[in-house]
Amino acid sequence: MPILRKFSSLGLSSLGLLSLLALAGCRQDMHDQPRFKPLAMSDFYPDLRSERPPVEGTVARGQLHEDTYFYTGKVGDNPGDYMPFPVTRDVLERGQQRFDIYCAPCHSRMGDGNGMVVQRGFRAPPSYHTDRLRKAPLGYFFEVMTYGFGAMPEYAPQIPARDRWCIVAYIRALQLSQSATGADVATGQKIPSEPPQFRGDPGSGATLPVVAPPQTNEGEQSK
Ligand code: HEC
Repeated sequence: MPILRKFSSLGLSSLGLLSLLALAGCRQDMHDQPRFKPLAMSDFYPDLRSERPPVEGTVARGQLHEDTYFYTGKVGDNPGDYMPFPVTRDVLERGQQRFDIYCAPCHSRMGDGNGMVVQRGFRAPPSYHTDRLRKAPLGYFFEVMTYGFGAMPEYAPQIPARDRWCIVAYIRALQLSQSATGADVATGQKIPSEPPQFRGDPGSGATLPVVAPPQTNEGEQSK
């Protein structure tokens, strides 16, 4: 047993020494390779930037945006009014989640423009529940998110195009949640609950309406 241990410790240490030597050799080469540190200055190029712009007329892998509508929301110069992919339950749920993360801090979860950041003093955005924005084409919302609007910053760098479209679909659902009428229901389909009875003025969408005693509308209550 003692002999065995001696052998093995000898073997290990000489092996360790060998590999250390070998590694030290490699490391030197790797350290000395010619390369630029990210964003470092270089006097090799006339503009002194080591970071080079892409060669004109080339497109980096994965950055070919052939589907213009998907990336701009525009048909020609004007916002289009259709979704570039079908709206499913998953799309709406993704839109709700992204909206609540990125937009609700200012626009509020119901889109009336009364978010927490606004309550702390940021400029109040308009409510989505106005005639003008209810009639705005879908591509318009995409455009506002993509390029920003007045005091509102652009969100393209943070939210990928597909997610921005999911948010667009959810905003339309939010708008319908406050303004749908019997006419929006397909003919022959039963409306499952009675409309809520408001106490006084239902408001403009910028304020929460007060709903009268909950005898008729369990749906509204559980939301
Ligand atoms: C930091 C606060 C803030 C956030 C976050 C924010 N917005 Fe806005 N938004 C604003 C403000 C402020 C305005 C009004 C801008 C103005 O009039 O200068 C506005 C305006 C808008 C408008 C209305 C444009 C019009 O024609 O009146 C839309 C639509 C909109 N935002 C969508 C979004 C969406 C979608 C998101 C999430 C991706 C979002 N916003 C996130 C602050 C915000």
